[in-house]
Amino acid sequence: MSISSFLKKKFLKSLFFPSHNRGKALPENLKKLLREYPGFWDLPELPELGSPTSDKGLVVDAQNYFSNKFSTNKCWFGVNGASGLIQSGILSMAQRGDYLLMPRNIHICVIKACIIANLTPIFFDIEYSELTGHYLPITKEWFNKVLDSELLNGIELAGVVLVNPYYQGYASDIETLIDLSHQRNIPVLVDEAHGSYFLFCNNCGLPKSAINANADLVIHSLHKSLNGLTQTAILWQSGNKVDLENVQQSINLLQTTSPNSLLLSSCEESINDWIGEKNIEKFKKRINSARHIFEELHKRGIPVIKNDDPFKIILNTGSYGIDGFSADKFFYEKGLIAELPEMMTLTFCLGFSEQRNFVNILDNLWNKLLLSSKSNKKLNIMKPPFKLIQIPHLPPSKVWMKKSCKIPIEESLGKISADIVCPYPPGIPLIVPGEIIDKERVDWIIEQSKYREDLYNFYIRVLKT
Ligand SMILES: Cc1ncc(COP(=O)(O)O)c(C=O)c1O
Repeated sequence: MSISSFLKKKFLKSLFFPSHNRGKALPENLKKLLREYPGFWDLPELPELGSPTSDKGLVVDAQNYFSNKFSTNKCWFGVNGASGLIQSGILSMAQRGDYLLMPRNIHICVIKACIIANLTPIFFDIEYSELTGHYLPITKEWFNKVLDSELLNGIELAGVVLVNPYYQGYASDIETLIDLSHQRNIPVLVDEAHGSYFLFCNNCGLPKSAINANADLVIHSLHKSLNGLTQTAILWQSGNKVDLENVQQSINLLQTTSPNSLLLSSCEESINDWIGEKNIEKFKKRINSARHIFEELHKRGIPVIKNDDPFKIILNTGSYGIDGFSADKFFYEKGLIAELPEMMTLTFCLGFSEQRNFVNILDNLWNKLLLSSKSNKKLNIMKPPFKLIQIPHLPPSKVWMKKSCKIPIEESLGKISADIVCPYPPGIPLIVPGEIIDKERVDWIIEQSKYREDLYNFYIRVLKT
């Protein structure tokens, strides 16, 4: 089957990214454009259009309009996902040899940026829920403990990178975490890939956007948490801790010389779609419907977990002895496609169109799954084996291109990883290059391999000694 044929495939219910629900929630102006003669709109960087880093043109006009509207210094559209702009942001904050502080649930693109730019990630652990197997939001007390840790004594941090909200929709009090970093004069980049729409709904009971919480750099994924096309993103810069020219240079360094005009238009339209009272009212209704879906599922006894993003519905399959991967497979075969299977949960992304029949479909299939599951075995959930602060033995870039060999994970004890072990989704590394592989990490990865096919019989690249 060709890719183009597959793209026409219909499912009973698609609850995955991109959040425009297979076109239903795309901005009207973008839908109109797509109805034109196919491909007609695929223009090069003509003088009238320009690109995100040009001096002038329609792209820059739109960027200037948005950065003024949301009181930031500047913003840039991106057509290489949130990944591309997060990496540019990181390159603009730090110089070769610098250290960056980040939580253990950081996205893989940050580690790749560290490899490219010869930066050392310093990881801090996060509290963890045995009920869901998810990291918990970071409290003020916890973050203070991290920042005051003895292991950080004498290390000058070039920046802190935070993820908020998490993939599953949990949010920390981001303003407090940013304040604590700023009190120590450390700039903060917030990966808000999953929380773009927080910026547009100030009084909807949603977490505060990092833009309104004084973050220096914020990156939004416009296809995960707005209604844009896949690959679209935006980076916002505020304050004076990160040099604006450095950001522009770093975007230039990594971006393609031919940014896709349709994607640039999607960046503009997906943000425009959330501006203006009438539009906000429409999306407020969606937010309320999403909350109603959660309440209804809860009322029906379906084990859903409370979070801070109404558009992410987390099903706690593990509380019935069913791992999220098996549940995902079962639902997939029946046409209900979720976003994120994990050991204890399965997360659905509702997206921004109306979801009238989801409650009944899930209720029906969940009951079928319960009937077909053999026993209520207790799942063996292992806490991630991390210390409060961990610094890789060697900087990741120092080992990335060194001579290495692939060996079974069971035989890797005591060796130095030359690999990023990172199941996707959610794209959170379990081990990064330069870390010494200890027994706790091996046991933890092997335990997960019982449920995840991508970790089964796993081989890891280690440094040759
Ligand atoms: C927290 C987080 N940040 C960044 C990204 C990267 O986004 P993109 O796929 O748009 O490059 C992801 C993708 O899953 C993510 O979950």
